[in-house]
Amino acid sequence: MTNVELIDRLEAEDRLAANEWVQLIDSYSTSDREYAAVRAREISHRYFENKVYTRGLIEFTSYCRNDCYYCGIRRSNQSAERYRLTEEQILQCCEEGYRLGFRTFVLQGGEDGYYTDDRIVSIVSKIHTGYPDCAITLSIGEREEESYRRYFDAGANRYLLRHETADREHYGKLHPEEMSFDHRIECLYTLRKIGFQTGCGFMVGSPGQTPETLAQDMLLIRKLHPQMVGIGPFIPHKDTPFRGEAAGTLELTLFLLSLIRIMEKNVLLPATTALGTIAPDGREQGILAGANVVMPNLSPVAVRKKYALYDNKICTGEEAAECRGCLAGRMQRIGYRIVSDRGDWKERKETDGVQV
Ligand code: 5AD
Ligand code: FES
Repeated sequence: MTNVELIDRLEAEDRLAANEWVQLIDSYSTSDREYAAVRAREISHRYFENKVYTRGLIEFTSYCRNDCYYCGIRRSNQSAERYRLTEEQILQCCEEGYRLGFRTFVLQGGEDGYYTDDRIVSIVSKIHTGYPDCAITLSIGEREEESYRRYFDAGANRYLLRHETADREHYGKLHPEEMSFDHRIECLYTLRKIGFQTGCGFMVGSPGQTPETLAQDMLLIRKLHPQMVGIGPFIPHKDTPFRGEAAGTLELTLFLLSLIRIMEKNVLLPATTALGTIAPDGREQGILAGANVVMPNLSPVAVRKKYALYDNKICTGEEAAECRGCLAGRMQRIGYRIVSDRGDWKERKETDGVQV
């Protein structure tokens, strides 16, 4: 089968076999990528018209107990500047965000033991009470089922936990031995079971990634069928073991965004900050490839540089006081509009292929 035929079949049947994924990812041409982007864009339009959902991202702690080889805030990085936002500061971010029109707040941080379940529950409850019309997304890593349940009961609706790679061996190349691939995947299933709108995802071009490991990622997404998928290019950080590795490419990231849209038609799919970092118009191109979410930074400008997962991250300077306005302009210039609603996941249209 040609690559265009594979893309058409993915659209019709929502799935490809592992060897077909490998072929597509290994041998795609520029015109295949453009073809996929056109199909992806049409599907996005069918579900979301020209709307782009926004989520206000609050990076509330740069402490992390983990030591992932790719990440700038890994615990071994002595040069990383560490900070924690107080509950009050987090609530101030929400207040500012609400005023700017955000109706989803994403609390993201390293795996920081300071934020015990009680502290997370307290923060979530206060946001939930203060802003009952807003969705609350957590992105705070692996925790126990009981903890996840408490956050859910306190009012958190969504949870992002990138699986990073669906290939066990590859996982072992990205993480120290003490981190468990099985536990991470189990967390995703637990989150779904509890009722969170759940997001998985991975970096594109992470060291050791191959068309075969990416095929596994696509199969996992198909199987987990998450409400959100976060992907962005790997970008090396100077104080990590991967400092000398090549970054992921814009082209492959865009192609994969399109393929994810074609497979998981109604999924919430952000054009990430990392994508905006490897190309000045990366996020715009991401939207044009089928993404439908942007996540402007709401963290206090004073701490933004310190949440450096990778080098040269955008939106960390003084100019970034108002990312929302910046992104609204960027989206408008490509014919899209940022909307203020919560942007919850919606069921599929019945006419769209099979669904399991
Ligand atoms: N480049 C790109 N993305 C990164 N992340 C962590 N480190 C990097 C890096 N060097 C991503 C991971 C993580 C998310 C919060 O950020 O996928 O899940
Ligand atoms: Fe942050 Fe443009 S989105 S400055």
